[in-house]
Amino acid sequence: MRRVTVIGGGTMGNGIAHVCAQGGLDVTLVDVDPAALERARATIRKNLERQVRKGLVSEDAVEEILARVSAAQDPAEGAATADLVVEAVPEKAELKYALFRTLDAAAPEGCILASNTSSISITEIAARTSRPERVIGMHFMNPVPVMKLVEVIRGLATSDETTEAVMALSRDLGKTPVEVNDFPGFVSNRVLMPMINEAVFALMEGVATPEAIDTVMKLGMNHPMGPLALADLIGLDTCLNILEVLHRELGDDRYRPCPLLRKYVAAGWLGRKSGRGFHPYDA
Ligand code: NAI
Repeated sequence: MRRVTVIGGGTMGNGIAHVCAQGGLDVTLVDVDPAALERARATIRKNLERQVRKGLVSEDAVEEILARVSAAQDPAEGAATADLVVEAVPEKAELKYALFRTLDAAAPEGCILASNTSSISITEIAARTSRPERVIGMHFMNPVPVMKLVEVIRGLATSDETTEAVMALSRDLGKTPVEVNDFPGFVSNRVLMPMINEAVFALMEGVATPEAIDTVMKLGMNHPMGPLALADLIGLDTCLNILEVLHRELGDDRYRPCPLLRKYVAAGWLGRKSGRGFHPYDA
């Protein structure tokens, strides 16, 4: 694989573009919002400079890596020459279904279409295309340049060849891929989101302040971040969308999103990306 197209330049898309370009691949980053493309480029530069300060990337490599990332606004145009497309648009099923139809029509026949979805069924996404054997989940973790895991999700029709290609590429990017089967929330969010949701219920019920809840989980359970700070990092809208998928698809009320989470999202308090979530951030 030489040419990767990343669709969506938000929290995850810029990180995926970053690690692919750092791994020597030519990257086209596509976003419908030109301002998001500008922010993505600035974020990639900022994160590369942080890696330079930590001695992980040489100073000379920064411009070389950035030069491998080009920008586009049309997903079909971006996919036309790709060996692999990684989709990272918001966690809305209908949006992803429509996008995969477009990508399927535009991408070369052998191109693998991957989704970074946190919870939407890969099998259902694949069914919208003419190449379900070449559709797969490639679930990077946030922040992508730092986190080692790629959860590789096989849809019902995903071929061994596609799975092996994506596992090998993930390793080439310095990541550790783990293969899982397609089920709502896969492994990561099936386990993580109920914990985050419970932390929001604890906050809503006045059990403790956000700082106290996060401190209990950090110092008591040895988690590197508290659940509310982690929710702010992920994005509260993304957390809500994932919980809604778990609730709907698994049909169990234990996944019902906390009303306080809905309220924050309605207020536009989305976490770090909007400058305010359960904790305040600099805009
Ligand atoms: P985000 O909201 O930060 O970014 C999404 C970007 O997609 C925006 O820049 C938006 O302008 C763009 N976009 C919307 N519609 C588009 C279209 N039709 N074509 C091209 N670009 C379009 O979202 P985020 O957080 O990066 O999430 C993306 C995906 O990654 C979601 O499926 C999410 O569940 C998943 N994910 C998110 C994680 C997180 O911590 N935020 C972690 C792992 C997966």
